[in-house]
Amino acid sequence: MIMQNKNIIIGMTGGIAAYKTAELVRGLCNLKAKVRVIMTKNSEEFITPLTMQTLSGEPVYTELFKTHFRKNLEHIALSRFADAVVVAPASANFIAKLTHGLADDLLSAVCLATTAPIAVVPAMNKEMWQAAITQENIAALKKRNIFVFGPASGEQACGEVGFGRMIEPQEILKLIPKMFESQLFYGKKIVITAGPTRENIDPVRYISNYSSSKMGYALAEAALEAGAYVVLISGPTNLDCSTKIKHINIHTAEEMHKAVMQEISACDVFISAAAVSDYRPANSSSQKTKKGTERISIELKRNPDILSAVTSLKRKIFVVGFAAETKNLVANAKEKLINKKLNMIIANKVGSGLGLGFDSDDNEVVILHKNGKSVKFPKMRKNKLARELIKTIRSAMLS
Ligand code: C5P
Repeated sequence: MIMQNKNIIIGMTGGIAAYKTAELVRGLCNLKAKVRVIMTKNSEEFITPLTMQTLSGEPVYTELFKTHFRKNLEHIALSRFADAVVVAPASANFIAKLTHGLADDLLSAVCLATTAPIAVVPAMNKEMWQAAITQENIAALKKRNIFVFGPASGEQACGEVGFGRMIEPQEILKLIPKMFESQLFYGKKIVITAGPTRENIDPVRYISNYSSSKMGYALAEAALEAGAYVVLISGPTNLDCSTKIKHINIHTAEEMHKAVMQEISACDVFISAAAVSDYRPANSSSQKTKKGTERISIELKRNPDILSAVTSLKRKIFVVGFAAETKNLVANAKEKLINKKLNMIIANKVGSGLGLGFDSDDNEVVILHKNGKSVKFPKMRKNKLARELIKTIRSAMLS
C-alpha cells in the first residue's frame, strides 16, 4: 500500500544489469506506483527506451533539452514530480557525478534539482567498486542521506567474481519503501479525522459536503511513514489506507466525536482534517419523507465542535486544525486558531474553479502557528504537502 500512487523516477545508467531494471519497473507498477524512466545515452546501449516505455506505460525521458511538458523545463518538472528517485543500475561514473554535483545530462540534472530522496543501486566490476575513489564517493553519498542499495557479491558479466553485482529487483522493491520512512514520530500516537460527515434527514437522505478525504488520508500515510501509531477516523469515502493504520469508519459528526474521544487517550497529536457538518437535522425521520407540499423545511441543530472538545481536555495534546475558506483566508483562519485554542491551523482556499482544496489532488496552504508565525506553501500534491506538514508539526512540537 505504501507504494500506491507514489511517483517514482527510475534512472538508468550504462550497465548490463539494465535488464533487471525492466523487472523492477514492472514490480513497481504492480504495486500501483507511478513510474517515469530516465535513461542516459550509455544505458540505451543495453536496453531500448521502448522496452522501458512499454513496461512503465509512460514516455521514457532521455534528453535534457527536449520538452514533453509545455510550461516547465524537463529536469525541473521531473524533479518536482518525484516522490523518490532510484538510479538502477548506477555506474561508477554516475556515482562520481552525483557525488560532485555534476548535471550534464537529464538524470544528473534531476538528481541535483530534486528535494525527493535519492537511492543508487550500484552495478559495476568488482575492481571499480573496490577502487578507493568509488568507496570515498559512496561514503560521501551516504553522509548526504542518499540511499545505497547493495551491491551484491557473485559472478559478474565480465566473468570475474566479487562485489559489484546489482541486487535483485525483488530486493530493491523491498528497500524502496524505506526511502519514505523517517522516525520523526517514532513512539507517538497521532489521531487524524478525515472526510465528510453525513447527517441523516431520513433513512435514505443526508446532508453532507464535497470533502474527498484526500488530505486526511495523505496525512495519515505521511504520519505512518514518520513512524507514528496512526488512528484515522474517517467519514464515508472510497479511499484506502495502509493496513498498519487503525482505520475507524463513521458516518455522522456525533459518531466522529465519540470515536475521537475514545481514541484521544495517550494521543500526542490530533489533526482535524475532516469537513465536519456544523449542523444536523434536529429530527431525523425513521421513515422516508414523502413528497407532499410545495415547500418543506428541515430544522437543523448544531453538531459538537470536535476540535474545541479536544483542546478543552486537560491532557496536553498538540492540536492542528484546518480552515477551508472561500474568502478572507488568513483572517478567518487566525480567528479559528485563537477561538479553538489550537497549536496550528492549516488554511486553504476552496471554491469552484481553483483546482485546489476539497476534491482536488493539489492543495495550496498557509500555516499559521500559535506564536503568530505564518508560512505559505506553494501549490503541490496533497501527499507531498502531507509530508511537509508532518515535518512542520514535529519541528513546532520541539520548538
Ligand atoms: O469552524 P470550522 O468548521 O470552520 O473549523 C474548521 C476546523 O474545525 C477543521 O479542522 C474541522 O475539522 C474542525 N471541526 C470540528 N468539529 C466541527 C466543525 C469543525 O472538529 N463540528
